[in-house]
Amino acid sequence: MNIFCKAGLSLLLISQAVTGVQAQTQKISVLANKPGVSIEPTMWGIFFEDINFGADGGLYAEMVKNRSFEFTTPMMAWKEIRKEGSKGKVLITNHIATNDVNPRYAIITVDAAPSGYGLVNEGFRGMGVKQGAAYDFSIWVKQNEGNVSLRAVLVSPEGEKLGEATVKSLNNDWERRAAVITSSKTVAKAKLEVYIEGKGTIEADMISLFPKDTWKGRPGGLRKDLVEKLAELKPGFVRFPGGCIVEGYDLVNRYQWKKTVGRIEDRKLIINRWNTEFKHRSAPDYFQTFGLGFYEYFLLSEDLGAAALPILNCGMACQYNSGEVVAMDQLEPYIQDALDLIEFANGSTSTTWGKLRADMGHPAPFNLKYLGVGNEQWDEQYIERYKKFADVLSAKHPEIVLVSGSGPGASGKEFEYAWKELRKLDAKLIDEHYYRPPEWFFRNAARYDNYDRKGPKVFAGEYAAHAKEEPQAESRNTWLSALAEAAFMTGLERNADIVNMCSYAPLFAHVEAWQWRPDLIWFDNLQTVGTPNYYVQKLFSNYRGTQVLPITSGGATLTGKDSLYASAVTDKPAKLAYIKLVNASGTAKTIDLDITGSVSNSEVKAEVLSAADLYSYNTLDKPKEVFPVTKTLRTQKNVLKLQLEPSSVTVLSVPVK
Ligand code: AHR
Repeated sequence: MNIFCKAGLSLLLISQAVTGVQAQTQKISVLANKPGVSIEPTMWGIFFEDINFGADGGLYAEMVKNRSFEFTTPMMAWKEIRKEGSKGKVLITNHIATNDVNPRYAIITVDAAPSGYGLVNEGFRGMGVKQGAAYDFSIWVKQNEGNVSLRAVLVSPEGEKLGEATVKSLNNDWERRAAVITSSKTVAKAKLEVYIEGKGTIEADMISLFPKDTWKGRPGGLRKDLVEKLAELKPGFVRFPGGCIVEGYDLVNRYQWKKTVGRIEDRKLIINRWNTEFKHRSAPDYFQTFGLGFYEYFLLSEDLGAAALPILNCGMACQYNSGEVVAMDQLEPYIQDALDLIEFANGSTSTTWGKLRADMGHPAPFNLKYLGVGNEQWDEQYIERYKKFADVLSAKHPEIVLVSGSGPGASGKEFEYAWKELRKLDAKLIDEHYYRPPEWFFRNAARYDNYDRKGPKVFAGEYAAHAKEEPQAESRNTWLSALAEAAFMTGLERNADIVNMCSYAPLFAHVEAWQWRPDLIWFDNLQTVGTPNYYVQKLFSNYRGTQVLPITSGGATLTGKDSLYASAVTDKPAKLAYIKLVNASGTAKTIDLDITGSVSNSEVKAEVLSAADLYSYNTLDKPKEVFPVTKTLRTQKNVLKLQLEPSSVTVLSVPVK
């Protein structure tokens, strides 16, 4: 029984109950001796956006929220600590005339502090600290009067001291002071208290706390456990910084890469558009500090061995929001941003932007090859603006492949219009987005089989199966949604000649601070969990291969008949064929897999992802409800007899000649 049927998903549950082995053996043939079209190294990548606390409060490991008092409400996340008998005050001052990027700082006066006066920061839904781990506390500070010292203390929600460090002998000029705090316990929701001890007045800004143990140990870097999850995917590209965040609610709040590079103190924060986007999930404390900026994105891509794919604003704000566009005769600065970005990434260190890259620590070029112009834009106003970008960029940088958008839908008037016009403009890669129910994904496994091979290539830039949900944050990432995506992805892989890049979206979500779900990876301040969808992505990406192989049953490709979906690739250097089989039915299937060109009687590794309940999902507490299992099988001559588990994804690694 097919789990996808017109009557709806109610039959799914019935089919679940039927777990008996299907009597008939299905014959499937793979021609491992007939490698076809090449698979781009960029085939399976990741889509990063600062949504759901993905960057601030997530990947960017800063633990202090509103470290520079620049949120709309300057004291948001901060509270005064005024213990018995203490006298003091905090005044937020604005110096916009002399510093318009980071204009505010706190002036703190202490007249008496017998038992403690200072500030406490709540962190991003608390601060996750680990027993024995060291944390880098830092502050920009200047002593105006008196003689004070600072004591930074990590405390549990119950007020227990977990560790502390002091900063003494403050200067009368601004300076960055640092100290290390070691936590005595693992606590999910710690806080940072900063006491001003003695009597006097200080000015304070950029109060910060980072784990020492960041990704690659970089001070002020990225959360190691989250990057490790990305590294495991072995992504072919990293698309950044989004998403709608590129567009902004309006043009003032669009993403401007130049404001995200250089010293972090000089990166002007803006409100995160997901702060206000969904009334039912509003996050008033969500801002973009740009501590994770374009330099860090390039570095991350390089670390992951992935191609960087920055997406730039094309002179249009989000068409679901203000929808404003820059006047055509004022588009030039936007195009200049693109040219300067190419210089920042690839230019010699004697150029303005290449020098900045070198000054930031990376004299070697980042070898940027791809650049996106606009995100989910549609209609004439997009084509008009895209054309201007394309004219300039293709003349000055023919080596850069431009990625263009086709709007938010995977079909329909706007989508058709975009494709028609972009084809005329000789666009190279078109970004398609589909957030649809699982049935759509099953039904569209053959979507690209008949795409015109002569035109632009496809970038499946944002997709995810959206289905049923429960109150628990991770509940929308059901096994059913992942199974549907796997079925669909066999179609992407089979059509790797036209589909050159694919990424699930969004990537990250904080369980207590999400705006959008499902997402690929969930986390809190201490832990992360891969969703069933994550493991599907991992299976496809880790077994990417170099060329597509023919895989058929009864002469036809497997795109859903008898609930079977399949694709196969060869990995030339590894001398392995990777065969992906998706059984979308609630019954097991007996298969005879005839693999021409395989090594006779050889050992075959099988990675199997399955779950009895289509609605099961992984959570931080139960991370392995849907988790790949590795098995070893053996071919008889060139035939592999195997049984596909009900509702399962199986990836076989078969030695080939
Ligand atoms: O992935 C979440 C959002 O979905 C992206 O920001 C946007 O491009 C799409 O609408």
